Formats: sequence, structure tokens, C-alpha cells
Amino acid sequence: MENPARRDILKAGGLLGALGAFAAAAPARARPWRWSPSGSVPGTGSGADPRTVWDDEADPLVASLLDRGDVPRVNELLRSWTKNGQPLPDGLPDDLRDFLEHARRLPPWADPGLLETAVRFNEKRGLYLGVLYGFVSGMMSTVIPEEALAVYYSKGGANMKRRISRTAKLGYDIGSRNAYRPDGEMIVTSVKTRLAHAGVRNLLPRSSHWANLAPEDVPISQHDMMVTWHSLPTSVMRTLRQWQVPIPEDESRAFLHSWQVSAHMLGIRDEYIPATWDDAESQAREVLDPILAPTPEGQKLADMLLDLGRGLDFTLLTRPILGALTRFALGDEIADWLHIPREPVWGTLLDVAWGPFIAVREGLLPLPPAPEAYWTFDEFLRQFVLLYMSELRPISIEIPEHNNPN
Ligand code: HEM
Repeated sequence: MENPARRDILKAGGLLGALGAFAAAAPARARPWRWSPSGSVPGTGSGADPRTVWDDEADPLVASLLDRGDVPRVNELLRSWTKNGQPLPDGLPDDLRDFLEHARRLPPWADPGLLETAVRFNEKRGLYLGVLYGFVSGMMSTVIPEEALAVYYSKGGANMKRRISRTAKLGYDIGSRNAYRPDGEMIVTSVKTRLAHAGVRNLLPRSSHWANLAPEDVPISQHDMMVTWHSLPTSVMRTLRQWQVPIPEDESRAFLHSWQVSAHMLGIRDEYIPATWDDAESQAREVLDPILAPTPEGQKLADMLLDLGRGLDFTLLTRPILGALTRFALGDEIADWLHIPREPVWGTLLDVAWGPFIAVREGLLPLPPAPEAYWTFDEFLRQFVLLYMSELRPISIEIPEHNNPN
């Protein structure tokens, strides 16, 4: 809802002051926040509505970096900081250094044993995770209205492949063998993302598009963060269950744990991070499922996403096939919102043969009932993993300095 007082604060400039004022002048919302912190990792919390909470450490820090003109220098310096155990580069401003040293620490509740088991899960399920992180979660993000708006009107919004690479980079890092170990990259990726989000919170409110369209004044609240979080692990787990992929209890728990840790490292308060899959489901039913809706921006982003394989040597990652996959994985309603036409051949093939294909791959059926379909699906998954490893991998996450110039 429009809040003129907050808009005036923004127009008057002074980012630090403005962010402080936002936190104080939180909008009254019609629908109360119900999810109880008793279902969170610590099992307790203030119960504050996460739509009124952003990141009170990173946001003022990045506001100050932007005000001081330090962002280009800081981005340049941080480019060489890639490994979790690597010392921070010399020359960073003191306030940023202090923040990073603090933000890079894993939470005390991070469980190394569970993180190890998560590696096993990721290795066993890597073939499915390629398509799920690399495409299905990205497609879902286009029907999360506030995220679609934020992404479309911020710096990287015009380039959907870049947007997918960011989720892919995170998915790749979290799934890698050394994710949270000193030689891994997940901590660095998460902390840099935290800074990038703080940049967006500072910059996007200056965009006239955002000011005219957005239902909230400052983007990427803790609530938005949890919505997007559910489009990742919760949606992945829902889809794997729907496909009847057998997942041992300890691996399912470990997969959740690796994403709980990542939520913390991204600056989400522990009181909003679900403790179990049941808690995650109850929160997703409250925050994710009811808010999915089409927007013109999301439709344009989805359109770009369907061309993900264009110009590349992946014969199965074509627009019609990716459209059929979207309809199959996310359902008719979302596919219709995104104006994705029905694809008779691939649509039918997925409807009829995907279930048996998974059963054969998982050793639950002895022989492929339709061998051609089996090998085609196997190749399809393999092409996603290759796309994921080659095209989508190498990105350097940076603090944006401006919005989408278009
Ligand atoms: C940037 C991941 C939540 C909007 C990024 C980046 C990553 C990331 C890895 C850096 C990529 C880059 O530099 O291009 C995540 C994860 C989230 C999350 C894992 C939740 C668990 C959100 C939410 C929104 C959002 C809730 C908006 C409502 C953005 C925007 C950028 C960004 C606008 C900057 C893109 C640009 O313009 O360059 N995010 N994000 N993110 N994220 Fe998020």
C-alpha cells in the first residue's frame, strides 16, 4: 500500500536516514502474520511481522558505501574473495570488514554431520537438482509478484540468463562437496548476496517504476526472503515427492538443514527459518502458495527464460520443451498465467512417461516400458546439468550501483 510519508523520505535522499525511518514506519497490513516462531530453528522469537523487517546490519552499511561512492572499489576488491576460508582482501573499509568477519561465521546451530549428509543427497540427486534449481525454481520466481518486480526493475533485470545463473550459482555452491568447508564457496556466495540485496533495498526505491507499481516501499523484506526461499528447497522437495523419488529420512533432513544454514547466511533471522519440513510446509502454505500471481514483468521474465537454451548446443532445451516442462512441473494455472501454449507431443510424453522413467531410474521398475522416452528424458536431464555447469556457473556477485536502465 502507498505510504506517502515514506516516499517523501526517499525523495529527500539520505539513504541511511531513510532506511532507519522505514524500519520505524512499517506499514499496517491487512492480513496478520500468523506463523509462530515456535516452528522456527530456535523455537522462539519476537513474532514481529517479517514484512516490516529487512536487514538492519547490511542495509545501513551498504547505504553508507553507496553514499561514500565506495561500491565500485569494494566490488573490485571482493572479486578475489571466493573461498570460505580465505582471508578478506586488504584495503576494504573498516565497517565493511567488521561486517564481513561477523557475517561469514556459521550459526552455532550449524551441524557438520548433517551438512555432510546433505552432500550425499546432492550427489545422489544432482541430475534432478540441475533441472529443478536451473529452471523450475527460476520459472516459479516469475509468478512471485514482488520478486518479479524487484528483479525486472533492478540492474540485472533485463538479462534473465544472468538471473538464472545467480540461482544456479547458489544451487551449485550449496550442492558442492565442500559447500560450507573452508575450500568451498557457499559462505562467500551467501554473504555477497546479502550485500547485493542490501544494494537493491537502497536503490530500487529510487526507481520510478518501483514507486508506481510496488506494493511495498522497500523491497526484499524478511517475508519476501522466505517466499523466495520456499521457491527453492520447499518447491524442490515438493516436486521430488510428487515425482515419487524415494528420499531417506536423514537425507531429507540434511537437505533442509543445508538450506536453513544458507537462510541464516543470507541474513534471514533465525526466528523465520522453519525447523522441520512440516514447519516449512505450514509456512509455505501461508507465505508462498497464496501470493503466486501473474504480472506483466513476470510474464516478460518467463518469456526470456523459455529462451534459455537459444543459441546453445542443447537440442532438448528448446522453447516448446521448456514450456511443456513448466506446465508439467508447475501446473496448468501457472503455465496459463505465463501464456505458455500447450505442447501436444512433449506435454503428453511428460504426462505419460515421466513417472515410469523416474521409477526405472530409481530402480523401482525393472525395465523401461518405453525405452526411447527413457533415453530422451535421461538426455534431457543431462543437458540441464551440462548447461548448469558450463553456461550458468561463473558469475561474480556484486553490489549493484544502479537500477535497470531501460
Ligand atoms: C540478487 C539469491 C531472495 C531480488 C541475488 C543474487 C543471488 C540471489 C545469488 C546475486 C546475483 C547477482 O549478482 O546477479 C537469492 C536467494 C534468495 C533471494 C537465495 C532467497 C532465499 C530475493 C528476493 C528478492 C530478490 C525475495 C526480491 C523480492 C534480487 C535482486 C537482485 C538479487 C533484485 C539483484 C539482481 C541485479 O539486479 O543484479 N539474489 N535471492 N532476491 N536478488 Fe535475490
